[in-house]
Amino acid sequence: MTTASTSRLRGQAVIVTGAGSGIGRAAALAFARAGAHVLAVGRRADALRQTADRHPGIATLPADITADGAAQEVIDAAAGRWGRLDVLVNNAGATTVMPLADTDARRVADLLALNVTAPSLLARAALPHLRAARGAIVNISSTYGHRPLPGAAHYAASKAAIEQLTRSWALELAADGIRVNALAPGPTESEALTAAGLPDAVVEQIKRDETAAIPLGRRGTPEEVAAWIVHLADPAATWITGQVLTVDGGLELT
Ligand SMILES: NC(=O)c1ccc[n+]([C@@H]2O[C@H](COP(=O)([O-])OP(=O)(O)OC[C@H]3O[C@@H](n4cnc5c(N)ncnc54)[C@H](OP(=O)(O)O)[C@@H]3O)[C@@H](O)[C@H]2O)c1
Repeated sequence: MTTASTSRLRGQAVIVTGAGSGIGRAAALAFARAGAHVLAVGRRADALRQTADRHPGIATLPADITADGAAQEVIDAAAGRWGRLDVLVNNAGATTVMPLADTDARRVADLLALNVTAPSLLARAALPHLRAARGAIVNISSTYGHRPLPGAAHYAASKAAIEQLTRSWALELAADGIRVNALAPGPTESEALTAAGLPDAVVEQIKRDETAAIPLGRRGTPEEVAAWIVHLADPAATWITGQVLTVDGGLELT
């Protein structure tokens, strides 16, 4: 079904990082179903292929976004393919369980490189195209970008950083007509906990604890989060910028 909202995204070019799983895969699909051309970016070519197999509007680019020169390569790939770039979704990210007593410089640097520096360099490289399109950036934060997370403080801090980048860039780029917003999901089904290297039993315990803490009584689905990423990027959202929208089943209220 085509709605007024989907028709405005039709023909637009969208980059989604981390599109081989979880929230990024659901977002890539949601944009493609809305009629956009989507470049799905991530390290695992096979995972990206599984995303692209679900919709012909999705192209793939295997890339480590923390590598030297990767940001420009990603932006050039989309702009070269479609001659434009309207939306950058900075979704790729990781969580790190790391109590203060175990804090390790390498792990902090790697986390910030992925969750903060790579989105910044992608946004910088995207700028000329976003100016031309009067486009939008959607950064993916977390409920824990604005509430404490004992035992994973650096993850929370990295998401707090992306929220402040969102507000600051929104003001910096407003005169160019570029909107910058953030989506802050609560605990959502994805590969994130496994990717953090946690054993299955710990992952299951965390999921049980999160479910018990969420007022709506369950973890979210990637599709429930992706729908709001699309709303924030949609050209119909012409007067919203610099906002952090929390989609977390009410967790933020507790
Ligand atoms: N799930 C949740 O509960 C939750 C809650 C709040 C916020 N978030 C945020 O939502 C975003 C998506 O996470 P998710 O939950 O969907 O987890 P996920 O399934 O682990 O997805 C993360 C994606 O990022 C990609 N990625 C990781 N490192 C990369 C790199 N160096 N270069 C390129 N791509 C890279 C991964 O693909 P490859 O391994 O193939 O590169 C993966 O597809 C993250 O920013 C996360 O912090 C998640």
